[in-house]
Amino acid sequence: MSSPPYRVGRARTGLGLFATEPIAKGALVIEYKGPRISNAQAQKKERRGARYLFEIDSRWTIDGSPRANIARYANHSCRPNMEAELVRGRMMLRATRRIRAGDELTYDYGREYLDLFIPVCHCAICKRRRRGSESSLSLSLSLSLSAHADRARVREVS
Ligand SMILES: C[S@@+](CC[C@H](N)C(=O)[O-])C[C@H]1O[C@@H](n2cnc3c(N)ncnc32)[C@H](O)[C@@H]1O
Ligand SMILES: [Zn+2]
Repeated sequence: MSSPPYRVGRARTGLGLFATEPIAKGALVIEYKGPRISNAQAQKKERRGARYLFEIDSRWTIDGSPRANIARYANHSCRPNMEAELVRGRMMLRATRRIRAGDELTYDYGREYLDLFIPVCHCAICKRRRRGSESSLSLSLSLSLSAHADRARVREVS
């Protein structure tokens, strides 16, 4: 049997899943495995802090907490390279674009999960966005400080 095209490794948000070889756009990468529980049971577990619940329809949720469910290590990204898809009743993560070896494998967890568990997203896109706004904030702060210093100097000499 060939080895899977991913491995678990260190990510910026704990553990994550990484491609070990190129993955073609459209390829089924990994199954999100676990026992099916009712959405009512899932809600109870969620209230107790369960983070590996994957709702598949209006009745059922996959409880992906068993460690054998390697897909549970895939992190959220706002520019993901996989999407979830039900294939003959199995929850699969499918590549939405070509993935290079070494890339982190991610999917979009959805608004509800983000609101509940991820108030600050640490995906690469959000990090870059924050760094951009921080540097433009520090640029405008230093511009206004230097304008203030100029005014202070003008006041000194006049
Ligand atoms: C399904 S687990 C993913 C694997 C997890 N990183 C681990 O080490 O077990 C989901 C949890 O990972 C973290 N996580 C995943 N994606 C994230 C992101 N984009 N920003 C911040 N935390 C994230 C959150 O703690 C979330 O509840
Ligand atoms: Zn993000």
